Amino acid sequence: MTDTELRVSKIQDGTVIDHIPGGTALHVLAVLGIDGSGGEEVSIGMNVPSDRLGRKDIVKVEDRELSADEVDVLSLIAPQASINIIRGYEVSEKSRVSRPTEVVGVLSCPNVNCITTGDEPVDSVFDVLDDGVRCRYCDTIVRDDVASLIEST
Ligand code: CTP
Ligand code: ZN
Repeated sequence: MTDTELRVSKIQDGTVIDHIPGGTALHVLAVLGIDGSGGEEVSIGMNVPSDRLGRKDIVKVEDRELSADEVDVLSLIAPQASINIIRGYEVSEKSRVSRPTEVVGVLSCPNVNCITTGDEPVDSVFDVLDDGVRCRYCDTIVRDDVASLIEST
């Protein structure tokens, strides 16, 4: 039994997001729009030892199977993450996150003059580049710290 399993117990049904970069689990939850207000049972392990990553975070959401679309956007902040769908305590499906071509309504543009940051109800749209994201409205490119653009929920 690994250290992780000792700290965060197994779940019966739901989704386990594993191999998240250490310290970024809260960004992952923000991307997924999970803040606890929906009543979901969520367990989080942060900076737990990992053979592959040194330190990793792990998120377990019970009674909810995340869709491929929902997890795609995770690739921006957790490219190594693995998604495990759990049914009856068994890992029923295991997949890696994949990179979307665009991200709608998840990131907020850092340009204060951008139409998406004004009072108008315009959804943000970012095109995903090899090394960052680009606002479709004002062409602002962000390469480092994409996680800092995640809209607070
Ligand atoms: N897990 C869980 N509840 C279950 C089954 C698995 O929380 N009922 C978690 C495990 O703790 C692990 C992840 O889901 O973090 C994947 O489980 P498994 O594939 O059994 O572990 P590994 O082989 O270590 O996964 P990987 O090869 O992806 O590292
Ligand atoms: Zn913009």
